[in-house]
Amino acid sequence: MILAIDGPAASGKGTLGKRLAAHFGLPHLDTGLLYRAVALSLLEAGQDLTDEAAARRAAEGLTATALDDDRLRGRAMGEAASVVAALPPVRAALVEFQRSFAASPGGAVLDGRDIGTVICPEADVKLFVTASPEERARRRARELTMRGEAADEAQILADIRTRDARDSSRATAPLLPAPDARLLDTSNLTVDEVFAAALALIAAARGQHTSP
Ligand code: DC
Repeated sequence: MILAIDGPAASGKGTLGKRLAAHFGLPHLDTGLLYRAVALSLLEAGQDLTDEAAARRAAEGLTATALDDDRLRGRAMGEAASVVAALPPVRAALVEFQRSFAASPGGAVLDGRDIGTVICPEADVKLFVTASPEERARRRARELTMRGEAADEAQILADIRTRDARDSSRATAPLLPAPDARLLDTSNLTVDEVFAAALALIAAARGQHTSP
């Protein structure tokens, strides 16, 4: 089973993706890490985040080991990733990495912004996970505090709105639910409730696949 999970920043899709992958015994790819790793590679080399040629080279040279870096998970890298993710050559260079991951034997869980629309339009199940910007800011602030980073919730909310606007308005692969995605609003749900709701949506989607 290929399970595509898309949604905006801090909607809960990463936590959900990890848990669903464990439940179904599938590998999980947080595709945001790819864009974060491209951004980190540019910043480390002192290059501009909007330098298309340098960003494409960084994306083409990306390896799985680069994703295993704690520096990728901070707030600044999320912002930087959103900038490089708007560059079409970067997106194009990362397609194969994601598609070959999705082709793992038995399937895979991928979460991101364009998994159901561009990377795996043939996914068996597509979920689009959302939550209000205020709730996402609260969650991100909690997460950053737990990482030991400073967390100004008002600033985080402003960042989330900017990032939503950038991710949704870019010309290439904007953040958008696939027409056949199932929507899951997690604003008023606990992590366990989100997991249970997702399992029900997956069961319904798979049921539909097997009916004539
Ligand atoms: O999910 P995240 O916060 O780690 O993603 C960081 C940025 O990367 C996000 O603002 C947009 C971009 N991204 C993307 O464009 N496509 C994806 N499939 C995943 C992330």
